[in-house]
Amino acid sequence: MKIVMLGAPGAGKGTQAKQIADTYGIPHISTGDIFRANIKNGTELGRKAKEYMDKGLLVPDELTCDLVVDRISQPDAEKGYVLDGFPRTIPQAEALTNALEARHEKIDYAIDIEVPDENIIRRMSGRRACLTCGATFHTEFAPPKVEGVCDVCGDKLVLREDDKPETVANRLSVYHEQTQPLIDYYTGKGVLVEVDGTLDIDVVFEKIREILGA
Ligand code: AP5
Ligand code: MG
Repeated sequence: MKIVMLGAPGAGKGTQAKQIADTYGIPHISTGDIFRANIKNGTELGRKAKEYMDKGLLVPDELTCDLVVDRISQPDAEKGYVLDGFPRTIPQAEALTNALEARHEKIDYAIDIEVPDENIIRRMSGRRACLTCGATFHTEFAPPKVEGVCDVCGDKLVLREDDKPETVANRLSVYHEQTQPLIDYYTGKGVLVEVDGTLDIDVVFEKIREILGA
């Protein structure tokens, strides 16, 4: 099963993608997590990506597309994957479609998690992220068992650099300009499904399960 998660920053793509990956036994591939891991490890890619991420801008397509095409070619992605945060421009979507078509494959579902902009800022200010394993919590809506500590790997939780309100506003406008057109793109491919992302985390996941079946 090959899935693309769509939705504004903070819509819950990462939260739901993790549950989908666990339930269906497929890898969760998040470009944001990959870039953050590179920043944490001080790599050249991380240094370049950080310049854009800290401003709420997109990392250029040429640093992003090959990375994902390479990742989905790994053996653990043979049965499928859930892509979170990629594609987020039309050229990225086309690069993905072309790479898949070359192998006679296609995306099965593009799941658009819909959350109005006014809900987003509150979600971001309460989010706490683990930069080691990519797990995400929320001080109010999804608290970790021990404050400030990741339930999954035990590392410390942080407020992401790009979750400051002024950067979130930039990310939202970049989303509307560059990523929202993908809703039409995947509608055209006949694979778009929409989910109300304002519901509770578990309810959103139930809706996704109904769509995916099993
Ligand atoms: P990325 O890491 O992908 O960030 P994003 O798209 O801005 O999305 P977020 O991770 O902020 O939100 P999310 O939808 O995953 O929500 P979450 O589940 O955490 O990208 C970061 C940056 O990297 C980009 O700005 C860009 O610079 C760069 N980048 C990445 N990919 C790129 C690409 N392909 N091309 C170019 N640049 C790229 O949930 C948010 C919070 O809400 C959490 O605290 C969660 O617990 C809570 N929550 C979730 N669901 C609910 C719910 N139903 N009810 C209440 N709370 C909820
Ligand atoms: Mg995320």
